Parts: sequence; structure tokens; C-alpha cells
Amino acid sequence: MEAKFQQHLEQLASQIETHLMAYVRVTPEIQRQAKVMEAMQYSLEAGGKRIRPVLVLEFCRICGGSQEQAMAAACALEMIHTFSLIHDDLPEMDNDDFRRGKPSCHKAFGADVALQAGDAMLVAAFAALIDAPLLTAERKLELLHILAEATGAAGMIGGQIMDMAFERRSDVTLEEQEAMCMAKTGALIRAACRLGCTAAGASKERTALADKYGAKLGLAFQIVDDILDVTSSSDVLGKPVGSDAEEGKTTFLTLLGLKQAQEKAADLTKEAKALLEQFPENAFLLALTDELLCRNK
Ligand code: IPE
Ligand code: IPE
Ligand code: MG
Ligand code: MG
Ligand code: MG
Repeated sequence: MEAKFQQHLEQLASQIETHLMAYVRVTPEIQRQAKVMEAMQYSLEAGGKRIRPVLVLEFCRICGGSQEQAMAAACALEMIHTFSLIHDDLPEMDNDDFRRGKPSCHKAFGADVALQAGDAMLVAAFAALIDAPLLTAERKLELLHILAEATGAAGMIGGQIMDMAFERRSDVTLEEQEAMCMAKTGALIRAACRLGCTAAGASKERTALADKYGAKLGLAFQIVDDILDVTSSSDVLGKPVGSDAEEGKTTFLTLLGLKQAQEKAADLTKEAKALLEQFPENAFLLALTDELLCRNK
């Protein structure tokens, strides 16, 4: 099972990466913009776990859709996620110099180019969906709606703003922390599940169930990210450890302590897996859900 799971995961990640790179190819018409394209390629190309696009492809598959139907949405979401990381690392945000095992975008290209590369990646994500093959205009509109809602002020960007505001406070409650993480991290992970279902034309009920799963997984994912910032090493993580403490952040660790934070992530994982039981052909996603709890990067 383990070997089969790893093999399938690697295969999906590699297919996603091939498609991703095609979206940021420098063509003769955009030679003048080569610098920003280079920065986009640099941040997109390596080291990411590709969890969000894998979720898109898998939910599409178990809802009866094809990989081709879901690939544009999968790549669009990974581009949004990568844009969020480029901006997240800027000195005005988390001020982190490493990402995905190499210097952060602003360290390699300067903050001016990194800002533009993030912006261009955000736009490229929507363009990828607009140009998606095999989907009706109506289906594309549904997907664009999900992506826009998850990305904007009510989603990931809103969560990032809350994250910054919380840095100036020492009285952040567990409830507030959960709401912030549901937005900054949960929104894109929920969107991954919904995009996959929607690409396959799944029912509203099915999609709502996938969304619930995404909410549980998203929160567990951020709790583990907070834990790894303390327990892992930067070599393994590919990004700095101790960054949260350095920025004075409230995290699930500062609120709950290590043991309780681990328990909370494990409980959420269990609840997420219970929701998956209502889907057919769920073996890979069940294994992925467990894997993300035990991950070391
Ligand atoms: C990092 O996300 C940011 C969070 C939302 C916790 P990932 O852990 O998915 O980062 P990559 O894509 O693997 O680099
Ligand atoms: C990330 O939260 C949320 C984003 C929207 C990027 P973190 O700031 O904890 O992510 P890392 O630890 O830098 O990857
Ligand atoms: Mg951050
Ligand atoms: Mg960060
Ligand atoms: Mg983190």
C-alpha cells in the first residue's frame, strides 16, 4: 500500500509539474518580460509538495471525472498557492529567506520583482482556467467563482491580513486562531476539494461533503505546519524553522502546547477521514490524509 501510494503521489506531482511549467514558458512575444517570468518559473518549479493540485485531481477522479478535465484547475490553484508563498516570505510579511529549499523569490530576484511575480502568478491562475480545454463556459464560471472566493479578502488573503494583525496582539484566543487559519490555509485546501468535484460535475451534496473534508484537513494541515516550525529542521523543511517565534506569532503550539496541538491535528484527521468514507475509490485520499498528519515537511 505504502509503495503504491508513494508511486501514485509522485506520478500525479510530476504530471502537475509538467503542466505548470507550460503556463510560465517564455515565448518570443514576452521576451521583454523575461525577468518576471523567470521569477515565476523559479518559485513554481521545485520543492513544493503539490498537495492542493493533487486534491483537485483526486476529487475529480473519485467523482467520475477525468484528469484532463481537472488539470487546469489544479494548476491554477497551485499558482495561487505559490503566489501566496512569494508574498508571505516578503520582509513586510513573514520575512523568510528560504522557501522550497532555495532562497525565497525576493532574495533571488529582489522584492520589486517578487511582488510583480506574485501578482502575475495570481493573474496567470485565472487565465489558465479561462483557457481550460474540455470545460463548458458554465463549468469554467463555477470554477472561477470558487477560486476567486477562496483567494480574496474572504479567503486566503483575508486570513493573511488577520495573521499580520494577530502579530501585534498577545491575547489571541484559540477561536480566533482557528478562524484565521481556516482562512489563510483552509480556504485554498477547501477550494481544492470543491474544484475537483466541480470539474467532474459532481452534485451539490457531494461537493459540500468534500468541502467539509477540506475544512478539517486544512486546519490539521496548518496545525502540523506550526508544529514543524518548532520540531523540524530547515534542511528537511526547505524553509526556516523558528520563524513563527521570531515574528512573535501566536500559533497552535503557543496556545495548546505540543502534545495538545498534536492531538488536535490527529482528531481533525480522523474526522476528515470519516467524511471520506462517503466517497468511492477513496484509498489514496485516506492514505494522503494520514500522510499529511505524519509529514516531516
Ligand atoms: C505552506 O504550504 C503554507 C501553508 C499554508 C502552511 P505547503 O506546506 O503546502 O507548501 P509547499 O507547497 O509544499 O511548498
Ligand atoms: C501560510 O502560513 C499561509 C499562506 C497563505 C502562505 P505560514 O506563514 O505559516 O506558511 P509558511 O510556514 O511560511 O510556509
Ligand atoms: Mg505567514
Ligand atoms: Mg510564512
Ligand atoms: Mg508556517
